[in-house]
Amino acid sequence: MSGLRPAPDGARRAATLEAARAYARERFAPTPFVPGKTLIPASGKWFDEEELAALVDASLDFWLTTGRYAEAFEAGLAAAVGARFAFFVNSGSSANLLALSALTAPELGERALKPGDEVVVTAASFPTTVNPAIQNGLLPVLVDVDIPTYNATAAMVAEALCPKTKAVMLAHALGNPFEAAALAELCEKRGIWLIEDCCDALGATHHGKPVSTFGAVGTFSFYPAHHITTGEGGAVVSSKGSLKRPLESFRDWGRDCWCPPGVDNTCGKRFGWTLGGLPAGYDHKYTYTNVGYNLKATDMQAAVGLVQLGRLERFVAARRANFDALKAALKPYERFLILPEATADSEASWFGFPLTVREGAPFAREALTSHLEGSKIATRLLFAGNVARQPYFKGVAHRKVGDLANADRVMRGTFWVGVHPGIDAVRRAYMIERFEAFFKAL
Ligand SMILES: Cc1ncc(COP(=O)(O)O)c(C=O)c1O
Repeated sequence: MSGLRPAPDGARRAATLEAARAYARERFAPTPFVPGKTLIPASGKWFDEEELAALVDASLDFWLTTGRYAEAFEAGLAAAVGARFAFFVNSGSSANLLALSALTAPELGERALKPGDEVVVTAASFPTTVNPAIQNGLLPVLVDVDIPTYNATAAMVAEALCPKTKAVMLAHALGNPFEAAALAELCEKRGIWLIEDCCDALGATHHGKPVSTFGAVGTFSFYPAHHITTGEGGAVVSSKGSLKRPLESFRDWGRDCWCPPGVDNTCGKRFGWTLGGLPAGYDHKYTYTNVGYNLKATDMQAAVGLVQLGRLERFVAARRANFDALKAALKPYERFLILPEATADSEASWFGFPLTVREGAPFAREALTSHLEGSKIATRLLFAGNVARQPYFKGVAHRKVGDLANADRVMRGTFWVGVHPGIDAVRRAYMIERFEAFFKAL
């Protein structure tokens, strides 16, 4: 695998990996699809013997923390999205927490986020896109979304800005890019940080450029539902040199030292620093400049991710093909359903196929989702709906821009079904047939 430092031992390891491959071929052999009996999940991982062999290979190292696989995975991911560097973490939620927290680092001076600063987010969000603002004592400012792109437009964000706005943190909704180029320009002009939550959007491009490369920082999730998986896992990517150390430090306990696990004295003056109120020469390994976390993931996870990364192009193509087929098949039912649309100048990397039941349709969303669920086709809501209406938001200080009518509409009328690579032509045809059966029975 490219960029991977080789393991030190030979024949016994090779035999163990071959046994793991044979096991995977038998244990995870595809099972026949039985319409109406076999579940078509809304999302799901796709893997074969190579992922299992890599996982076993990493476990044979028994390194258990980040090591050669994490190093290769970070480099591979950064190259895949065109970022200068990537930090592997233990979830997409951790990636979001890390991305925003790093922007509070004192070393960023005037640009550092301070308690009370405003962060623009959308109301129709996944909660952990919004939560890092709350967790850092910043004020989330909720803007509405457009339907059928499910993103806030640049104009909606512009309306929310005030002198206290210091960051804009938005997810590319369900893999559909938001107007990242326009927003990056707006944020740049106003000295505002743009954070792209790309957790659902690996492989998406806008104006031909990968998402995550427009703002200062981009984040990814590799939970099994996502485009590639590491089990639990996520990453933060950036090309801003000034953010490299804050990101690494906040991920790794808040320390000043940047040695990888198991390495000492990378800076060449481990006992030569004098920082804060510490005595001269205090061990740099135990010197902390930030209120950090430990968000690192393990080499076992990275090993799976490295194999998955090699499959990314094929995965994204499969998602797009499934999306296009569903859209074409549901076109005749547009009088009932609002069909999804990619943002202009974008190639989405769809996470799911979102639909909004039109107001005035002769059925409720629940009637359609129950029909699909009853046919073993899993459905999902668009995450938190309107996050301001979630129980946890009661008592959370925030500002709303407008009446968030579309976020409420998403909460009441939107759902999505899967487009992941596990949905082959047979499953796809069955999904379409079940949709059609519902409309024909109206
Ligand atoms: C937009 C968005 N951001 C963040 C996350 C969190 O990722 P994770 O589940 O890896 O914590 C998700 C989860 O699906 C998501 O959809």
